[in-house]
Amino acid sequence: MRIWVLLPFLACLLVVSCSSKSPSEKEATAIINSKCRQCHTTGRVYDNKGRDKGWWLKTIERMQNYGAKINDEEIQKIVSYLSSS
Ligand code: HEC
Repeated sequence: MRIWVLLPFLACLLVVSCSSKSPSEKEATAIINSKCRQCHTTGRVYDNKGRDKGWWLKTIERMQNYGAKINDEEIQKIVSYLSSS
């Protein structure tokens, strides 16, 4: 009897967890939204998604020279997300 009460709830949970982004992806996009949008749109960032790690590290270092405020931990997170295709 109880199982029928639980089923819709479980199905709902499954749909939510399958359709939403993974936690690390969410974290990376949150960092990009807060740190990479002062000077250009995030489109500029996502247009280059899938480029290799070395390119991203070099590019982000250039952004830091322009004045982007992002720490090493945040860089690691967004680089591993952005270098995946
Ligand atoms: C202080 C301003 C500033 C911030 C903050 C900033 N950028 Fe930029 N970004 C620029 C400027 C200026 C350019 C265009 C000149 C260039 O490509 O060097 C640019 C260009 C880019 C490009 C295109 C590079 C290419 O070769 O096509 C990428 C990718 C990029 N930024 C990523 C980022 C990421 C990721 C962040 C967040 C960590 C960020 N930017 C934050 C100033 C900034």
